[in-house]
Amino acid sequence: MKITIIGTGYVGLVTGACFAHVGNSVTCLDKDEKKIEKLRQGKLPIYEPGLKKIVNENIVNKNLFFSSNTKNSIKKSKIIFVCVGTPMKKDGSSDLSFIKKVAIDIGDNINENKIIVMKSTVPVGTTETILKIINKELLNRSKKYIVDIANNPEFLKEGKGVGDFMSPDRIIVGLNNHKLKSVFKSLYRPFSVNHEKLIFMDVKSSELTKYAANAMLATKISFINEMAIIAENLDADINSIREGIGSDSRIGFSFIYPSAGYGGSCFNKDLNSLISFSKKVGLKPKIVNAVNQVNLNQNKYFFNKIIRRFKIKSMRKYTFGIWGLSYKPDTDDIRNSISINIVEKLIKLNSEVRVYDPKSLDNAKLYLKDNDNITFCKNKYEAVKGADALILLTEWLEFRSPDFKKIKSHLKKPIIFDGKNQYDKYDMQKRGFEYHQIGARTL
Ligand code: UDX
Repeated sequence: MKITIIGTGYVGLVTGACFAHVGNSVTCLDKDEKKIEKLRQGKLPIYEPGLKKIVNENIVNKNLFFSSNTKNSIKKSKIIFVCVGTPMKKDGSSDLSFIKKVAIDIGDNINENKIIVMKSTVPVGTTETILKIINKELLNRSKKYIVDIANNPEFLKEGKGVGDFMSPDRIIVGLNNHKLKSVFKSLYRPFSVNHEKLIFMDVKSSELTKYAANAMLATKISFINEMAIIAENLDADINSIREGIGSDSRIGFSFIYPSAGYGGSCFNKDLNSLISFSKKVGLKPKIVNAVNQVNLNQNKYFFNKIIRRFKIKSMRKYTFGIWGLSYKPDTDDIRNSISINIVEKLIKLNSEVRVYDPKSLDNAKLYLKDNDNITFCKNKYEAVKGADALILLTEWLEFRSPDFKKIKSHLKKPIIFDGKNQYDKYDMQKRGFEYHQIGARTL
């Protein structure tokens, strides 16, 4: 099939590359010409395991093309996926200006009947609004092409995006025209070989499924984080409690890892958007609101541990070694990263930080800019040299079993703050560390 993807960000690029990899002819369109030029040379704007390989293979196979020519790209394919961003506005609602611009571009340029697939995360009702905008443009052009629209949300986890696309748990498709089912069945057949993954529903339910999924995942995290604070205050240990509840198959072990809070580009944005569009129909979702509040508090709770231990408010200069800057492992994405937030807070208090991350140092340098109080380090041990404590904030594999003797010899005092509970507290005590984690008292 011929497919055009509008918006070559994280979702658009993974979607385009994976569709191309199973034999479709895919054109990825983006207004950012520099990005498109680099992609043509096989240079990726993001780090995502496995993506570079399939992008390059499919450029060579001539299954994958990159373009910034809107007109040609829209004309080229019968199926157009919309993958542009819906960032959060100050009031928490979703900024739909990019989506609306795309709708106008489609209406202005199509030359035959088309199928439009909305993959961007959009508030309930947006997919239908987009169809109205396209039809209005067609009316202005006095064209009678038939445009069908479907909603097909993405559930990709950064760092595992390629695997998630190739073998998804499910593929949600919201449509009002049942004739489209056969198109989606053949489009997604290569990803449903093991068993049928497609779930068809109406467009609005599909739009809301995306928000409900992210809200549920964020709820699990905030729940365990709230339990963590209760556990710590009662001298219980959240790590044991996590195992105790996760072993109940109704609860499961996923998404109940205590942390200094969730980050990333999705949860905060989507929960705020959910609250915002619920408000428009007179509703105030209590759980979703609490989930966000607990998350904000979790970041403060972790930061306060550092403040209390060092009495930083006295303005004495301390140095902290920071392990991990990306909002989660296996990505170079630092959007809404708890780690970056903590680095900024420490600097504001006149502390020095020595930061290390396996993949996101370049992005962090761009974002944090030149600051005398920040040293970007080439490896994890350099980051703890002469530091008053190590603060671990992203659970990269290379931090799981480090050389603790080396860490100890580099630090001024053997103190670790662990925002991801990577180590065993008894083991750390034996090794002579003062070990602060989430949801358990320091021994
Ligand atoms: C999320 C959804 O999982 C995905 O389906 C959707 O398409 C986009 O948003 P992503 O942002 O890639 O994906 O990351 P995810 O793995 O869900 O983690 C989000 C945040 O929650 C990270 O900061 C992570 O560290 C944190 N987290 C996750 C926890 O604190 N505890 C957990 O148990 C799991």
